Amino acid sequence: MEDALVRSVVLKRDGIDDLEAYPFSIPAIRQLDELRLDPHVTLFAGENGSGKSTLVEAIAVAAGFNAEGGSRNVTVSTRPSHSVLHQHLRLVRGTRRPRTGYFLRAESFFNVATYLEDIPESVAWYGGRLHEKSHGESFISLVTNRFGPNGLYILDEPEAALSLRGNLALIRRMHDLVADGSQFIISTHSPILLGYPGATIYVLSDAGIVETRYEDTEVVELTRSFLDDRDQFLRHLFAD
Ligand SMILES: Nc1ncnc2c1ncn2[C@@H]1O[C@H](COP(=O)(O)OP(=O)(O)O)[C@@H](O)[C@H]1O
Ligand SMILES: [Mg+2]
Repeated sequence: MEDALVRSVVLKRDGIDDLEAYPFSIPAIRQLDELRLDPHVTLFAGENGSGKSTLVEAIAVAAGFNAEGGSRNVTVSTRPSHSVLHQHLRLVRGTRRPRTGYFLRAESFFNVATYLEDIPESVAWYGGRLHEKSHGESFISLVTNRFGPNGLYILDEPEAALSLRGNLALIRRMHDLVADGSQFIISTHSPILLGYPGATIYVLSDAGIVETRYEDTEVVELTRSFLDDRDQFLRHLFAD
């Protein structure tokens, strides 16, 4: 298997002022030691508030991306407060260097889209003006037109913009990009994205960051039992 662009993430504990304050107040972050990243696709799952965004954002900033999202050339700043976690992370890099990359925060994608519309070349890169497309369409054209080989791609809940077909289009495109040497680090609640073949899945919870098989993730178990017997599932849900 080829070498990862980023092999692992290490939390440097010296110099942390306050383990009780954000971001170290998050159990999964406080317990972080060294986390191996998959050379192809690493997926972070876990409940709302478990620390996924905090972690992927810190990895992105440590890798040289703007906290707001975008490529490494994009400097938009509408979000003042990203955590200090990146200052305490060391990325263990592989022998290959990323040729390109992108950090996508689904929640601030539109800020970046607005910024890019002021750059004439970007209209061609993204396959047309982003704001004239739906959120999901612009995301798919970004991934199709702008993402390329040997890139480091960090995506925070990309499914927020996407239909089910959009999820499928994303994993289809990821498959080509991975074959061309790209590496993905993604936080997600999507059972489709979690199903990327051979990906490493980590679940964040009070127990820390635990590698978990696809079938054993809560989102897959719940989705499966909902689809298997919706009536029974809903009877239990409403009986509580
Ligand atoms: N800037 C911040 N300052 C203080 N607490 C924060 C900040 N951002 C997030 N948190 C808290 O950290 C926890 C993890 O948040 P987050 O990383 O966004 O989780 P997830 O992406 O898994 O939903 C939450 O309890 C959230 O309220
Ligand atoms: Mg989040």
